[in-house]
Amino acid sequence: MADTVMLIGFMGAGKTTVGQQLAQATNQKFLDLDDEFVKETGSSISDFMEAHGESGFREMETKVLENRLQSPGVISTGGGIIESDVNRKIIENSDATVIFLQADFATVLQRLSSDTDRPLLRQLSMKELLDRWEFRQPLYNEAADSVIMTNGKEPHKIVSELTNMLALPDNSLVSLRSQIDSLDRQILHLISERVNVVKEVANVKKQTGMSVVQNDRMDQIRLELKDEFSHNPNVSDELIDELVDLLTSTAIDKEKKMIG
Ligand code: S3P
Repeated sequence: MADTVMLIGFMGAGKTTVGQQLAQATNQKFLDLDDEFVKETGSSISDFMEAHGESGFREMETKVLENRLQSPGVISTGGGIIESDVNRKIIENSDATVIFLQADFATVLQRLSSDTDRPLLRQLSMKELLDRWEFRQPLYNEAADSVIMTNGKEPHKIVSELTNMLALPDNSLVSLRSQIDSLDRQILHLISERVNVVKEVANVKKQTGMSVVQNDRMDQIRLELKDEFSHNPNVSDELIDELVDLLTSTAIDKEKKMIG
């Protein structure tokens, strides 16, 4: 493994949790730059930002980065570290292997929904937060040696992808497979949500005495999907048929069990 692995990414991407677990799994030291900031300044990030503004925070963050970057092991960074040109140069000129933990905006919001500590979450409107997220994506990508997609993944899965990636740094398949694995998990989460809606449908059918299967509705679903995806070469009619078979048979089984 590289001497220093640096995790970058937006708030809520999992940098600290994953960093801690990666360090433990690989027997390395772990350093969180936000914690180092607090140690160095003797002030919480919220208090520091309140007293010195975000620009004051960024200046101090650069000093902490410079002082800690040579530390071997796993370093997790604050989400805004790549905003300053100076920080990006420092990171680029370092020997650290930089990994971007990517999370889509919806995932970030979900993970941060109960957070009350992060000052920017309190200060920024939803639109401003989304603007930040969008503004930073190309900067993370440019600064990173590799990208791991985290949507829908538990930390231990991300750690296992990271250890594979770090063992074979030139293997671009690892990054692509990371995207596939994330999409698979998102598809399963969506299917689980679909089953929840199916359960509500079953309750309505039970109350109104409707039968479980309405054949015309099943045919209608297929026709509409085939029409809507007719220009998408990735989604064939056969794929739609197979998927609808799977989804509807799962739903029918569930409804039959509930209605009896
Ligand atoms: C910030 C993210 C925070 C922390 C500070 C600013 C940002 O770190 O450095 O509140 O600008 O995104 P996390 O990404 O660990 O939340």
